[in-house]
Amino acid sequence: MARSWEKSRALLDRASRSLAGGVSSPFRAHAPVPLHFEDGRGARLKDADGNWYIDYTLGWGPNILGYRHPAIVEAVRRAAEGPHTYGAQHELEFLVSEKIQSLVPCAERVSFTSSGTEAVQLAWRLCRAFTGRNLILKFEGHYHGWMDSALISYHPAGDEAGPRESPTPVTPSKGQVPNAVENVAVAVWNSLEAVERVMARRGGEIAAVVMEPVLCNSGGILPRPGYLEGVREIARKHGALLMFDEVITGFRLALGGAQQHYGVVPDISTFGKAVAGGLALSGVAGRAKILELTIHGGVVFGGSFNGNPIVLAGSHATLEVLSANDGAALNRAHRVGQSIMEGIREVARRRGLPLLVTGFGTAFAVHFTRNPELVEYRDTLADDAEMLRRLVISLLEEGVYILPDGRLYVSVVHSDEDAKETIAAFDRAFARLT
Ligand SMILES: Cc1ncc(COP(=O)(O)O)c(C=O)c1O
Repeated sequence: MARSWEKSRALLDRASRSLAGGVSSPFRAHAPVPLHFEDGRGARLKDADGNWYIDYTLGWGPNILGYRHPAIVEAVRRAAEGPHTYGAQHELEFLVSEKIQSLVPCAERVSFTSSGTEAVQLAWRLCRAFTGRNLILKFEGHYHGWMDSALISYHPAGDEAGPRESPTPVTPSKGQVPNAVENVAVAVWNSLEAVERVMARRGGEIAAVVMEPVLCNSGGILPRPGYLEGVREIARKHGALLMFDEVITGFRLALGGAQQHYGVVPDISTFGKAVAGGLALSGVAGRAKILELTIHGGVVFGGSFNGNPIVLAGSHATLEVLSANDGAALNRAHRVGQSIMEGIREVARRRGLPLLVTGFGTAFAVHFTRNPELVEYRDTLADDAEMLRRLVISLLEEGVYILPDGRLYVSVVHSDEDAKETIAAFDRAFARLT
């Protein structure tokens, strides 16, 4: 069935006359048209044209309990009846930080911010203050927010990325200060040799080695066995901190994030997205000695909305649901997600399409590629972007909504029935591509 999304087009037209580009984040301005939505329940979303979709975007990750989960609705409603922000202390702050402390291995202390970008800003400042060093070692294809200092070599084109042994730090945005690259060293990910190489040259300058422990922002690439442990060791040897950016993996890959799943504990980590089930909460968790620099160590940090009661009420409810029965809900979500990954692989194989499905049960991505496996960002440069674009649109026509980069997020309310319908929708969408 061909859908025209006429109302979404008309609403975008109206919105564009006041709202820049008609969108609140240009990452959302995608084919066939940035969709307008008017409702959502459970795992499904309804657009302005009245089409319902099984949703795998989950608001780019946060809605780990799906839409309108009763526990979140009730908690937020109660909080909304009280003062909406204090700019001062209240009970929900420590109820949530205690919960995070109990779940996340590195969390001796927690600080709250509102977006992942802000959390990274705080974490990097803490790492620099703690070590008295300036350089951050980051990896190609890893996203740590859109601020000048971190938006470096996120998705460099093949002809600007430089040699694999010493990648060129690339600033993708006009208006971004070009000297941001002076404070960052860049390496390819998933290679201990690449980390050793940078450390051999600049180890004494590196404050922190920073990564997404699973490379979700470049298509769900898993760390090679031993890689995280190896980087942990190398960082320690050179007096650098290890930071995991768990804005995606936190409360999603496992209750305690990738650090719990892989058993590698960083010095400091960030979280966001799933921690509050759709409300704007993020933060930093890590060793007490590092985090307490904001109080005793001269590290400046603030935020009018830090610790906002409505947001923390949403987070408290989310973490209660996720952690009940030893994380049964998340375990089930992983199982449903894995069955979708397998199902997509199977229907692609039957139709003779060269497709990889990479990641883990609750966050994975599809790649049209002849590569037998993906190990680092550069491997994704061979993906067929046009096939993906056509797939995303065909899936919408079949009632399945995924992210424009081929990512799917699975929530605790996606069911086996949703999985079956989704695999059948992929099969029909694939048929249109061949
Ligand atoms: C790993 C990672 N870090 C940081 C961020 C930035 O978070 P936010 O969009 O909330 O600023 C994101 C956002 O997608 C992310 O995926």
